[in-house]
Amino acid sequence: DFDCFTYDPGFTATASCKSNITFIDGDAGILLYRGYPIEQLAEHCDFMEVAFLLMYGELPTKQELETFCDEINRRSILDESLRSFFEGFHYDAHPMAMLVGVVGSLSAFYHSELNMKDPEHRRICATRMIGKMPTIAAATYRHSVGKPFVYPLVDLSYCENFLNMMFSRSSPNYIDPNHYIDPCAVKALNLLFILHADHEQNASTSTVRLAASTGANPYACIAAGIAALWGPAHGGANEAVLSMLTEIGTVDKIPEYIAKAKDKNDPFRLMGFGHRVYKNFDPRATIIRKTCYQVLEGCNKNDPLFELALALEEYALKDDYFIEKKLYPNVDFYSGIIYKALNIPVDMFTVMFAIARTAGWVSHWLEMMADPSTPIGRPRQLYQGPGQRNFVPIESR
Ligand code: SDX
Repeated sequence: DFDCFTYDPGFTATASCKSNITFIDGDAGILLYRGYPIEQLAEHCDFMEVAFLLMYGELPTKQELETFCDEINRRSILDESLRSFFEGFHYDAHPMAMLVGVVGSLSAFYHSELNMKDPEHRRICATRMIGKMPTIAAATYRHSVGKPFVYPLVDLSYCENFLNMMFSRSSPNYIDPNHYIDPCAVKALNLLFILHADHEQNASTSTVRLAASTGANPYACIAAGIAALWGPAHGGANEAVLSMLTEIGTVDKIPEYIAKAKDKNDPFRLMGFGHRVYKNFDPRATIIRKTCYQVLEGCNKNDPLFELALALEEYALKDDYFIEKKLYPNVDFYSGIIYKALNIPVDMFTVMFAIARTAGWVSHWLEMMADPSTPIGRPRQLYQGPGQRNFVPIESR
């Protein structure tokens, strides 16, 4: 039994850990953050409210939210010496490679003041990570296009700051007085960050927890989570979906690619489809599909890839293979369409996922660190190698 629910997945499962943060019912397509349905949080909340909820377990009061947002904003600035760290990357380094490296380097900046036995120190680590992630993320993009870094501004919200740091014509010594931030983009980003904020024991969160269980530096643990998220089977799927849709190109090519996805001898997978846990619609995909319409209309864009994605989903959901194997669109299937409409480059899509998931990663880290009885993560294995045998000298081999 988990703390708040009796979880019966229909098979004998050895729960690898207990948590009070997120609950998923994969068969029913239910996702709750601290007991609140994702649909209600998506409709009513700001991402900062959800980050507070994940970290502290309750929705904030107005005053608590203001204090939290002010602290996150204050911690969003980077140490100036970090800029030289970016100079070491070639301009065409993948943004996720830069993110892993720069976030990992934070463990070199903050190791001395780290007293992990002090809850306040841990809380500061968590808010520092949430604050700095968008600044580092935007800097990876600015480095890749050879533009000066833009600093976070005190009077902008979390999502406004990210978009400004990405696309503003400003530079450190010039604030663009006419910086325009599209409210449609801010609203869409806020929603996507909420939907991607946490998802129970997914691969990247489990990686953070496993690293943290050894007492490793928290920034190094988050860097490990970023590395795990990068894979196309996990957070890298949103980038892979756009590449897949671009490769399919037109609706008449859909049957060919569905056949490839069903062919056991073909490594091709329908990216953005299927899930380890959801054997029903991923509730996040349903919300994101609806948002695609709103964003494309709001940004006055129509994207043929969105039409193609809708046709691909319709075709797959009528196919026996996908029906029998309970393969539905997941969170990654439509998110890339929205990021593309916001002019986010494809190679930044998984970086966007990492910004949002930082709230979940640090919340799980805080939960673990608050429980001194947490054992070191040490999965057991099913040994399938040779039985014991004696050494044979090389002359006799
Ligand atoms: C995320 O864990 C999380 O919560 C992750 C995440 C989060 O928020 O952190 O939700 C984010 O990572 C979403 C998933 C993004 N990945 C993709 O979209 C990549 C494409 N999807 C697949 O690679 C796959 O669906 C996985 C990796 C997500 C799950 O793979 P599993 O565990 O093999 O899925 P399954 O057991 O349900 O598969 C059942 C069958 C298998 O075939 P058989 O062995 O029964 O013959 O369906 C097949 C699978 O091979 N299958 C697919 C498929 N996904 C599963 N066949 C074709 N296309 C697919 N996409």
